[in-house]
Amino acid sequence: MMIAHITDPHLVRRQETLFGLDPMHRLDRVLTQIEREYANVRLCVISGDLTDRADAEAYTMLRERLTNFPIQTRLMLGNHDDRAEFRSVFRDTAADAHGFVQSFDDIDGVRFIYLDTLAPGSTEGQLCEKRLTWLADTLTAAADKDVAIFTHYPFRRIGLPHFEGMLLSNPDAVMSLLKAHGRVRHIFCGHVHVSMSGQWDGIPFTSSAGTAHQILPDFSSRDARFVAKPPQFDIATFDGNSFRVTGVEAEERQVLAISAGV
Ligand SMILES: [Fe+2]
Repeated sequence: MMIAHITDPHLVRRQETLFGLDPMHRLDRVLTQIEREYANVRLCVISGDLTDRADAEAYTMLRERLTNFPIQTRLMLGNHDDRAEFRSVFRDTAADAHGFVQSFDDIDGVRFIYLDTLAPGSTEGQLCEKRLTWLADTLTAAADKDVAIFTHYPFRRIGLPHFEGMLLSNPDAVMSLLKAHGRVRHIFCGHVHVSMSGQWDGIPFTSSAGTAHQILPDFSSRDARFVAKPPQFDIATFDGNSFRVTGVEAEERQVLAISAGV
């Protein structure tokens, strides 16, 4: 099974740019490339910062772009988003009983869980008691399944000083639930605009660099330098036990030669 992870499109209103870039055009290049080159992707997840300033117009642009996108797509919220504005445009989006944009899909025996880590007014993300209870129940109901977690905010440190104060505020509560389940195979996150992988408490994680501006991976400075690189998305394949993730840059590439398989 193959899935696509897209993050941080930071869409703005028509005629506007962001750091001189056109976020909608960059997202469009990613969606077009997935459709063209990875047509057997079963699921596409966009893990937050759908817009840069939570404009209804930007959400509407996203809705219109996805109308004819043939792959099942799930949308999540990031710190640049607004829950109410998002839900006013995506009226039929799945949410939990308290209105948090949290849901899951079961595909080929894997439960894909999409978390709502947005905490308005805070630089940190959060899963409050209500959201943690939902997560606990959702994991309990999938005791016989492998699980993949999608979150905008990384749960634990990623080694970049710029993000030290901008992670999830209560990672221990979340990680204890994930470890107790025992079959959480991967955590996919956005937010950092840097491509990275590693482990938290023994569970593999991957952050995708996203489709908008990217950040230079600086391991010493608290300041972040935004740069223009090709928009990126991740393709993840599940082999029945673990996810293998590869970052793909959306750009035209010339095939130099074809080495025949043996
Ligand atoms: Fe972002």
